[in-house]
Amino acid sequence: MTADSNPPIPACASADGVWRRLRVPAGLGAVAPGGSSWVVEGGRIVWIGADAELPAAYAGRPEFDGAGRWATPGLVDCHTHLVYGGSRVQEFALRLAGADYEQIARAGGGIVATVAATRAADEQSLYAQAAPRLRALLAEGVCALEIKSGYGLELATERRQLRVARRLGADFGVAVRCTFLGAHALPPEYAGRADAYIDAVCASMLPALAAEGLVDAVDAFCERIAFTPAQVERVFIAAARLGLPVKLHAEQRSDQGGAALAARHRALSCDHLEYLGADGIAAMRAAGTVAVLLPGAYYALRDARPPPVQALRDAGVALALATDHNPGSAPVLSLLLMMNMACTLFGLSVDEALAGVTRHAARALGLQHSQGFIDAGRPANFVVWDIDAPAELAYWIGGRPRCTIVRQGRIAGAAP
Ligand code: NIG
Ligand code: FE
Repeated sequence: MTADSNPPIPACASADGVWRRLRVPAGLGAVAPGGSSWVVEGGRIVWIGADAELPAAYAGRPEFDGAGRWATPGLVDCHTHLVYGGSRVQEFALRLAGADYEQIARAGGGIVATVAATRAADEQSLYAQAAPRLRALLAEGVCALEIKSGYGLELATERRQLRVARRLGADFGVAVRCTFLGAHALPPEYAGRADAYIDAVCASMLPALAAEGLVDAVDAFCERIAFTPAQVERVFIAAARLGLPVKLHAEQRSDQGGAALAARHRALSCDHLEYLGADGIAAMRAAGTVAVLLPGAYYALRDARPPPVQALRDAGVALALATDHNPGSAPVLSLLLMMNMACTLFGLSVDEALAGVTRHAARALGLQHSQGFIDAGRPANFVVWDIDAPAELAYWIGGRPRCTIVRQGRIAGAAP
């Protein structure tokens, strides 16, 4: 990280004014090579251009001198399960002792263990447990994120999770997309009756939660230890009836054909994808579905098979990265660390990793018009970094460069 050689950017609540002498990595903003300025007014970027071309009309506004620093769009964490009760630290020990994720799930641990803890937690407790996790993500410059339900698996608890997700967005001034993940695992009361549970998801849970304005997208887990493609398709059809976009946890442990199915339903994204095959890639390409790579889960589960990055790249499928924060397979609270892991473990370039946590992640949430790119007409979400080169964002392990975060037009403060 760079030493304190640059003049400090003064902290104040509103980011309205002229942001001068900033550099933006290629592809992340409508900027001039060599140095850009932009003007924030009423929380939005209203002008952007070369430093020397700042219109005279903006003279006299407060000035924030970037002094040649690098700026990126606010980061977007497009796949999290941030709201849940308890932890699964004991499973960490079991995995270290040789148990694998599927064995733990089949023995009644895994997702259903968190379901029990989440059902037992009231709204206030879920909020209090999730808030520090959110703070950790925000401190790295996250300006938008997805929060999934899926640890209730019955109406009241799914509602509680989604209500907490909405409240966190409002209270922390961050864009939160709420994704209903009722088809995450089979709740114990439906043991042996998966189709009946999918009936409940489609006919009562999803319509009720959508009517309450708690659902922005619908997700499912298509896997041997979760739901079949036929069951997932029923969920997708129910989502389409309500006009909601879909996405899928697909091909994480085996190739179920989930990605191709999701792409046929014009999914925003398919996520995980370690076992994705050629058919899935072709279908995702045709549908413009984003591939969300989750290197934290891959690392934590000590998977041996990385997702087919080169084939996705060759097909022109957009690659996004996310933390997948959850208490089981990815107790991850750093999107910058995911950049590092995606480069180191999956072979992404720094430019791909940067696009993966900004532009492409925004698309995976359907937020491509407001997040993940610096341009006039958009809400002011950007981060000014104390770094020597963009690669530093993927370089540090267990630390982060200092930064000034502008989130929804407010200066959120420099990370300590
Ligand atoms: O994205 N794949 C399913 N869902 C989560 C795991 C959730 C859990 O283990 O609690 C995931 O990895
Ligand atoms: Fe997940």
